[in-house]
Amino acid sequence: MHHKLILLHGFPHDKFLWDPNRQGLADVADVYAPDLWGFGANVPERRMTTMDDMAEDLHRSIAARKMDRLVLCGLSMGGYVAMAFLERWPELVHGLILCNTRSTADSEEAKAAREVTANDALDKGMAVIARGMLPKVLCRKTRHERPDIVERMETLMARQHPTGVAAASRGLALRPDRTATLRSYTRRALVITGAEDELMPLPTSQAMIEALANAELVVLPDAGHLSNVEQPHLFNAAVMGYLSSL
Ligand code: MLT
Repeated sequence: MHHKLILLHGFPHDKFLWDPNRQGLADVADVYAPDLWGFGANVPERRMTTMDDMAEDLHRSIAARKMDRLVLCGLSMGGYVAMAFLERWPELVHGLILCNTRSTADSEEAKAAREVTANDALDKGMAVIARGMLPKVLCRKTRHERPDIVERMETLMARQHPTGVAAASRGLALRPDRTATLRSYTRRALVITGAEDELMPLPTSQAMIEALANAELVVLPDAGHLSNVEQPHLFNAAVMGYLSSL
């Protein structure tokens, strides 16, 4: 039976983050990759959008589509949204894939940086944010050998709506530690990260593996924070292997 694979993008991306994966994964699952609240075409005017707001918005669109047997697959901020959704609707989550993310809350320093990012998005515009983020989200090899990926990701981030990005940045600062939510999850889970992810170093993934009762860790070589984009074939293979084990 086909699972409903829900692909949740990171910050500041939209559903097109999943372009390199969508087709391959559609062979083994019904894929749904929405724009999270504040991104892509889904931009309500709000001052702040929390991970719980995004999870509620996701729940509304899933309910409208009458989906069940959900497998949530979230990258970074998408992972935070997946954990917020799991906390609220555990009975709906049949599978969980957490990519390049963490279950812990922001430090005080990181919270202050979120407000700076929010103001920069509004005052300086998304082109500046996109250029600043690129070196942090792609590993050295991708940056040097894959100008196509560099350009695609810069364009994708730069076209996001500053208001939605600012609202999400403020919401990111408020997210609670959800390690206990992971502890309560007893089904099989998968954690994927990039060997060179500077934003989410390996110990953050190992901590999630320890919290989860039954999870496997896959570390993709020559990948930074955007492991699904930098290593789409290995990423898809990991997801497909996991789906077939459910
Ligand atoms: C993301 O990629 O979604 C963000 O980098 C997550 C974060 O800043 O915590």
